[in-house]
Amino acid sequence: MREATPRHYLMCRPTYFDVTYAINPWMNPDKPVDAALAAEQWDELRRLYLDHGHTVDLIDPVEGLPDMVFAANGATVVDDRVLVARFRHAERAAEAPAYQEWFTSRGYPEVHSAEYVNEAEGDYMVVGRTILAGTGFRTDPRAHAELERALGRPVITLNLVDPRFYHLDTALAVLSDTEVMYYPGAFSPESLAILRELHPDAILVDEADAEAFGLNAVSDGLRVFLPDTATGLARQLRDRGFEPVGVDLSELLKAGGSVKCCTLEIRHPAAV
Ligand code: ARG
Repeated sequence: MREATPRHYLMCRPTYFDVTYAINPWMNPDKPVDAALAAEQWDELRRLYLDHGHTVDLIDPVEGLPDMVFAANGATVVDDRVLVARFRHAERAAEAPAYQEWFTSRGYPEVHSAEYVNEAEGDYMVVGRTILAGTGFRTDPRAHAELERALGRPVITLNLVDPRFYHLDTALAVLSDTEVMYYPGAFSPESLAILRELHPDAILVDEADAEAFGLNAVSDGLRVFLPDTATGLARQLRDRGFEPVGVDLSELLKAGGSVKCCTLEIRHPAAV
């Protein structure tokens, strides 16, 4: 039997959300964004988390930072130890100090700022004791050793090769402490071999569901929150005993983000 465990999330309201620059292939500044609709869709995601018993904290959005809604990129938190992001693009650089300040002012004992570019949970996925770490488009491979030092967890490097899946959280999702799902086409042959070895029972996701951002999903161990257009994947999840919860974040997708991108998980030390 699968069981949900209550989670602690940090989210950022899309008050200043817009697509004014293009730093991934999904973004087109010429295509209009409906800010009111984006806000409604984001509110619905937050409401779903709360309805399912999770805690959602909020960080104040900052004017002039249209991508700040993608909170997953702000920091990586394990055992209350925090490694703050360092963004690849100048357009997002100022988000990092906002996260640094959020965690510091709340008394988190270790808040590390990063020397190397890392886009936090965009590229870092915690699976049980291990962290799978993406590189290729955003996070600097040298950041992986820095992550290991800062958070004290073993880190495994995975190379991303398809620009549509520029962050690891668009290509792979964590379902439980031992299970993942991923789109094989997003990885180099060597990284694929590592994934096959580590996770022989992983759910393999097809290109259509990956393009629908189906892998940009959040699992609480039972429920899997994911874009409602990834219908084939929802079926695969049901077959494995998960409960898919479809969410419509079509406006945020115009910036190349969805469910997981909007969600930073704060992991506390396990209770003894
Ligand atoms: N427009 C944002 C960027 O390109 C989207 C970030 C999506 N976040 C994520 N965790 N994949 O940086």
